[in-house]
Amino acid sequence: MALRTRFTELLGIEHPIVQGGMMWVGRAELAAAVSNAGGLGILTALTQPTPDDLRREIDRCRTMTDKPFGVNLTILPSVNPPPYAEYRRAIIDSGITIVETAGHKPQEHVDEFKAHGIKVLHKCTAVRHALSAERMGVDVISIDGFECAGHPGEDDIPGLILIPAAADRIKIPIIASGGFGDGRGLVAALALGAEGINMGTRFCATVEAPIHDRIKQFIVDNDERGTNLIFRKFRNTGRVAKNSVSDQVVEISARPEAVFGDVADLVKGAKGRDALETGNIDAGLVWAGQVQGLIHDVPTCAELIGRIVHDAETIIAGRLAGFLTQPETAAA
Ligand SMILES: Cc1cc2nc3c(=O)[nH]c(=O)nc-3n(C[C@H](O)[C@H](O)[C@H](O)COP(=O)(O)O)c2cc1C
Repeated sequence: MALRTRFTELLGIEHPIVQGGMMWVGRAELAAAVSNAGGLGILTALTQPTPDDLRREIDRCRTMTDKPFGVNLTILPSVNPPPYAEYRRAIIDSGITIVETAGHKPQEHVDEFKAHGIKVLHKCTAVRHALSAERMGVDVISIDGFECAGHPGEDDIPGLILIPAAADRIKIPIIASGGFGDGRGLVAALALGAEGINMGTRFCATVEAPIHDRIKQFIVDNDERGTNLIFRKFRNTGRVAKNSVSDQVVEISARPEAVFGDVADLVKGAKGRDALETGNIDAGLVWAGQVQGLIHDVPTCAELIGRIVHDAETIIAGRLAGFLTQPETAAA
């Protein structure tokens, strides 16, 4: 058996499971492992210091898999933005056929990717943004509920509402993101109107994730309460793992006079990278979601994807089918 959806058909992948773009984590080792396991692995463009490094990383990923994989381009407001157009050029020149865009005002990038025949998955956190991305011509909406790691937006709508609310309005395939980690979640996503799932935190706790084992164990040890919401005051809310750094950010930001500059040093990307590389949990921000409460081991990507698909199929054909009764039986 296999789970076939419009999403798997459109992208030519075996299983409706995506590994979302992840700063410092979305490198060739992980993306290739996910794609080899039949999901869609995604490299994170801005993890590479320059567009030329991204070209090399794409080549490296190609030596590890002959399956389709994508590249994430995250467009965040910034005082000194990275050279987005050059990263985009590197993606196009490298012959990448699937891109995940995320963040603000993707139009220019979407237009250019579409002009080169690239399939675009746009990740967003609100139905109105999904509608506008659909109008822009993207191929798939990846919708991130409030549970997610990363930037859940400012509306605080969990997946249980956000996914069906989006499915009611969007015609192109939707994949559900935020809080997914097992077969139950995949079945729920399909039931709510999505055609696949996107996972971040769950893929951090896999053998192939290129981060320190202590971070993987930290995710396993945490439960669903192990996150902090930061940057709400600056209208750029982020969900990160609870540690001494994110606790401090929450405390400083709660002061009435607080401005972003008060926490800027604590939240530097390079410090977060140090935490992931050295395994020092308190070196910086560690991005992770509420799904930590459902993560209890560190499997390979193939084991994880195989298990999720197997469990989903078993739930659909067994547990859910078991609830169906003939009217006579129900009355008896
Ligand atoms: C360590 C980490 C880094 C992330 N970095 C990015 C990023 O650079 N760009 C992006 O679009 N999403 C990023 N995300 C969000 C994920 O792609 C995904 O949307 C999210 O993790 C889904 O929620 P989940 O963690 O509950 O599965 C990151 C998530 C994690 C865990």
